[in-house]
Amino acid sequence: MIVSQTLADFVEARRALEAAGRRRIAFVATMGALHEGHRTLIRSARAHGDAVVVSIFVNPLQFGPNEDYARYPRPLSDDLDICDAEGVDLVLVPTVAELYPAGRQVSVNAGAMGSVLEGASRPGHFDGVLTIVLKLLHLVRPSVALFGQKDAQQVACVQRMVTDLNLSVDVVSEPTVREADGLALSSRNVFLTPAERTMACSLAAALEKAATADSVPAARIAADEILDRVQFEPAFELDYAVMVNPATFAEVPDDHTGPALFVVAAKVGSTRLIDNMSLDFAEVAAPQESVGLHA
Ligand code: PAF
Repeated sequence: MIVSQTLADFVEARRALEAAGRRRIAFVATMGALHEGHRTLIRSARAHGDAVVVSIFVNPLQFGPNEDYARYPRPLSDDLDICDAEGVDLVLVPTVAELYPAGRQVSVNAGAMGSVLEGASRPGHFDGVLTIVLKLLHLVRPSVALFGQKDAQQVACVQRMVTDLNLSVDVVSEPTVREADGLALSSRNVFLTPAERTMACSLAAALEKAATADSVPAARIAADEILDRVQFEPAFELDYAVMVNPATFAEVPDDHTGPALFVVAAKVGSTRLIDNMSLDFAEVAAPQESVGLHA
């Protein structure tokens, strides 16, 4: 495995892969603190390409001024061990100064989809995500880029950027990996105290319960039954629990049928957590007219 800490080294190593005939590059962009969810992405990347590139970069642009950029975990040597064990070919670990030299001006605007839900609570977040993802896509030049479905709005924004800017890369999303108690894996879970972790599990539990419902209002009631149990906990602050169209992130109406995505976000203690689950509401068949003969 080659680890490049400068862009010049990376470009050279990337060129060497191609020269060795490994043209179909599968790319996993990360902010490090790798867990089983990242391992799943890397394994899937190996199946999608003939070389795997991973980037590890805590991107300051996607953190708001009062967010957790400074304390975001950075266990680089463990991360590199994981990449090595998973058969990654090339890791890019760039510095902030190299990726964002002073005087930079141009960035990506994530548009309407980037300004609702996570984007409304974290203004500028998706602009920051898309800016770094676009830069990394230009550097890595992958055939396929893999993202975790836990960050569903991020995946949708990246897909929209790829479409709108005619980027030549396939975006693949992999299902959320969960702990045994349902909690979605996240690099931020390490910040949860045992009590907060128990509260955090109510997000996944609410989604699970909603998935058994057969209409939008019933799913909302089912989720609320679980979320109501933690609503008065001082450490639990629900931000949103909304059913949206998975392609546009617009909220679906009560009579919606077909696929929907239930997205939730909460602050638990000092940690912001998000989760989501796909739902599918079948059309309710209209009652059949009775055509029987009556004597
Ligand atoms: O999902 C993440 O870890 C980050 O948002 C990403 C895609 C690596 C961009 O910084």
